[in-house]
This record gives sequence, structure tokens and C-alpha cells, in this order.
Amino acid sequence: MAQSADAASEVLTLPGFERAAPPEPLPAAATRPFVPPTVQAVTLHAHLPQDLPTLRDLIRDCRLCTLCKTRTQTVFADGKPTARLLLVGEAPGRDEDLQGLPFVGRAGQLLNKMLAAINLAREDVYICNVLKCRPPDNRTPMPDEVERCSPYLEQQIALVKPVLIGALGLSAAQALLKTKASMASMRGRRFEYRGIPLIATYHPAALLRNPGLKRDAWVDLQAIRDFLRDAGAREAGAAADGAAEGQAAAAPADSAARSAS
Ligand code: URA
Repeated sequence: MAQSADAASEVLTLPGFERAAPPEPLPAAATRPFVPPTVQAVTLHAHLPQDLPTLRDLIRDCRLCTLCKTRTQTVFADGKPTARLLLVGEAPGRDEDLQGLPFVGRAGQLLNKMLAAINLAREDVYICNVLKCRPPDNRTPMPDEVERCSPYLEQQIALVKPVLIGALGLSAAQALLKTKASMASMRGRRFEYRGIPLIATYHPAALLRNPGLKRDAWVDLQAIRDFLRDAGAREAGAAADGAAEGQAAAAPADSAARSAS
């Protein structure tokens, strides 16, 4: 049965990502032109560990900025190291600083619901932050903190090699895209971070402060879901083509071997 406009908007805005809404055509903003890449493909930093567990250990003792003096512990990441979707937040908050895991407080609970709304579990994605240490009173990261911490995030991205990056909030989007642009101007478009497609959307904490933003966030989540679905279909098609080519190449050799025997 067709959904009424009121029922559809209730699913989109209230009480917040508990249920997945049926797919809807994306509004014009979500189909704005693709922004071509401006930076080179993602590569590993030679001066940092070449695997995630060793990188985590190194970061645990980091003293590159003053946040090391006020943190309880560093917060490295959570989720699947081989995830197709990598989500980047801003920095640990109080709960994350205490537990040593990203997005475990109220914003994290909303993030889990947002993921569930597009049929993803937290365990299916890789979740990390621009900063690995909590800024005092959860203040916005300072430019020099972002600069010193960014190589860690770059290494995480290069090691996970996701097919899509989701930048959660302005700090993450600005740090990854090296821009001062507003979230309103970035969301609804697709960017690239060193050859990896990137979609920016509101931080879950912003949605808690301003539930009116959930409608736009839902549009962004659908774009993430659709991108992953289409990329999956392309990967399956390429694998099938590769298998067919392999069989075709093997066939003449097989028949030659059979005729020789
Ligand atoms: N906000 C963030 O940006 N990251 C977290 O891990 C938690 C809250």
C-alpha cells in the first residue's frame, strides 16, 4: 500500500532512525555533480606502522600534542578492519575517553540506529576519529592538533582501504578534504579522499541538538547505502567477468592437453 506523505515524514524525522524507511528517490541536492579528485591515491606513510594493531600500540603512547596531558587514554577505532565503509568522527568525548572506544556515548547510540536504518551493524563498519584524544570539555579540535594527528587517520584509511568514507560532521569533512567549506555546502555531494569516494553528513551529536537535521541526514544515509549497493554490484560483475575470462583462457589449453593425451 502506498505510504501517505505524513507517514513517510514521520519515519524520516521521528523519533530518530529506529526504523528503516522504504527507499525514496533522492532529492536534487543528493544528485549534484560528482566532484573530481584533487589529490593523489591513498598511500601508506613509510614512517608509521604498516598494520593496524602496531599503529594502535604506537598511538597509545603518543605525545605529539598537549591533549596527551588531559586524556584518560587514546581512542583508536572500533569495528571491522576490512570494512567497506569507514566512518570518521571528530574526537573522543567523555564516554569514549573513559572506555577507549569511539562513539559509545549518546551520539554513538544514535549512530548505531542510523547504521541500522541502512541495514548495517556497527560491527560491519570501521569507526574512528580525526583526533585520538579527547579535547578538554569536548571543545572543537585546534588546527595544530588536527595536523599532528592526521597522519594516524591517513594510515588507518590506507590500511583499511574502504570503498567509501563517511565523514561525520564538519571537523571530519574539513580535515579530510582540507577545506573550510560549510557542511550545508558539502552534504548532498560526493567527494574523493585520495581516490576513495567520500560522503559528508551531519555529526550524530548535531542531530541530537537539532533533530530537524535528521531529514537531510537520512538523505545522506540513503546515498551511502545506495553507493555501497552499487559498488557491490560492480565488484560482483567484475569478479564474474574475471572468472569468465579465466575460463576462456584456460579452455584452449585444456583442449590442447586433451587432444595430446
Ligand atoms: N563524537 C565523535 O566525534 N567521536 C566520538 O567518538 C564520540 C563522539
